[in-house]
Amino acid sequence: MATMEENKLRSRGWFGKSGKDGFIYRAWMKNQGYPADEFEGRPVIGICNTFSELTPCNGHFRELAESVKRGVWEAGGFPLEFPVMSLGETLMKPTAMLYRNLASMDVEESIRANPIDGVVLLCGCDKTTPSLVMGAASVDIPTIVVSGGPMLTGRYRGKTVGTSDVWRFSELYRKGEMSQEEFTTSEACMCRSAGHCAVMGTASTMACMVESLGLTLPENAAIPAADSRRKVLAHLSGRRIVQMVHEDLRLSQILTKEAFENAIMINAAIGGSTNFVIHLLAIAGRIGVDLTLDDFNEICAKVPLLLNLQPSGGYFMEDFYYAGGLPVVIKELIGRLHDGVITANGKTMGENCATAECFDPEVIGTLAEPIKDLTGLAVLRGNLCENGAVIKPSASLNPDLMQHRGRAVVFEDIDDYKARLDDPELDVDENSILVLKNVGPKGYPGMPEVGNMSLPKKLLAKGVIDMVRISDGRMSGTGFGTVVLHISPEAAVCGTLALVRDGDFIELDVANRRLNLEVSPEELETRKCDWKPLDLGYKRGYVNLHINHVLQAHEGADLDFLVGGSGDKVTRDSH
Ligand code: FES
Ligand code: MG
Repeated sequence: MATMEENKLRSRGWFGKSGKDGFIYRAWMKNQGYPADEFEGRPVIGICNTFSELTPCNGHFRELAESVKRGVWEAGGFPLEFPVMSLGETLMKPTAMLYRNLASMDVEESIRANPIDGVVLLCGCDKTTPSLVMGAASVDIPTIVVSGGPMLTGRYRGKTVGTSDVWRFSELYRKGEMSQEEFTTSEACMCRSAGHCAVMGTASTMACMVESLGLTLPENAAIPAADSRRKVLAHLSGRRIVQMVHEDLRLSQILTKEAFENAIMINAAIGGSTNFVIHLLAIAGRIGVDLTLDDFNEICAKVPLLLNLQPSGGYFMEDFYYAGGLPVVIKELIGRLHDGVITANGKTMGENCATAECFDPEVIGTLAEPIKDLTGLAVLRGNLCENGAVIKPSASLNPDLMQHRGRAVVFEDIDDYKARLDDPELDVDENSILVLKNVGPKGYPGMPEVGNMSLPKKLLAKGVIDMVRISDGRMSGTGFGTVVLHISPEAAVCGTLALVRDGDFIELDVANRRLNLEVSPEELETRKCDWKPLDLGYKRGYVNLHINHVLQAHEGADLDFLVGGSGDKVTRDSH
């Protein structure tokens, strides 16, 4: 018999019922071989699994889920694993980002509609983290995140390699300095174990984000996927979620404004991906925290880069773990961040990192001796991006470009860019600014990671390694260069970006957070009259829904009708 406390569990609205409904809810579960007393008031823990062989970064999640289950059983819970839409970054066309919001709907409805008291989110590859957290936030039951962990560091011809080398290798290949055979060999050298990208790309950024928001146990971010301690963390998270249900510790108690501010500061200190901005804004929107782009500027300006990981530095996630992991970075920031916020283990941020110790100052710097003075992210304003744009100064290869005035070389869309970039006749030099339009949330659609455009072949041949590039798209977290992204409003809704023409002068001034197009307002008005909306040909289905409802980048690119939450209540039974 269930006790009074147990009767308060949401799952009792299914398994605690008498009569026909209770029969139906329990009987079909019993075909999996559960004894009757499993249904008598144990917290039911959903394990939301993004395992898919089409999401290779999450390919080890069946095993990881088993570790979570052990912990749940041990703590007296009843674990039930369920699959949700999984987003594989490398395979999905036109971009996994197009489906982030769709996956979040799957997660939200799967949690709410089922007899789940608490949920463990198994996240790994880039979009699988924000989509799961967004969906869970719109339900707001006790939730803990377990990341899948990074791949082991790759090695190619005696040198360490990771995902950022894809961009380097492909430029070498284009220049003819790497053969097809070498290029193919390096593929296997890079991806040599289970796990997600091992640089501080978006997946690692997301793993750090969930830890810095307080949604995981300490050390979640950096333990390699192949390290047995990743399974221990999953096991302990399984134990802990049962406790969280007893304490009724919900997402909304952890995801406070202070927690978001902490995450922004920590992301700046680790040199996290620019994609962080979009995903964090979307999560804040779901849980009802008022967060804007301006919050990022203010907070990021307070910290230098403390972590020496590619693409901003030289090391990999594995090194980060051995150096002490994220708790070391957090400890260094105590005094600047809100250390009293509560986290998933019931302890405060400050308590969690109290004993953290740095074992490798080459990898994790200090405020007194940072890796770079440049901060992680900056938000730009100006007539070219009235609602903002984002740049990652720490990823620039030529700091002189942080202040730069140059002539625009405009590509109207991705096809135009691909067709003309390497044209020997292209009127471009190293001072030009490459402008790519129509790669925003609506315009592509789905805001792909194409913002770190390759440099024109003829400039590569001259030894040019960096140029200012601007677009309404995103960049892979593994990418680098002086790249302005997320211009809002995007070209597809006739933002000023849509009106830029070849030869216009653009001024980038990162120190003063400015991005301006030197064209008069009158001339821009005239150009606006000539502008025609795109017809992308998506007349039906999810993509049509996305195009009609997606918000702009500065609002997190969520679908407008998904902002906010609906809680965990369901009022009617299914029979
Ligand atoms: Fe999955 Fe990089 S492709 S994390
Ligand atoms: Mg990516």
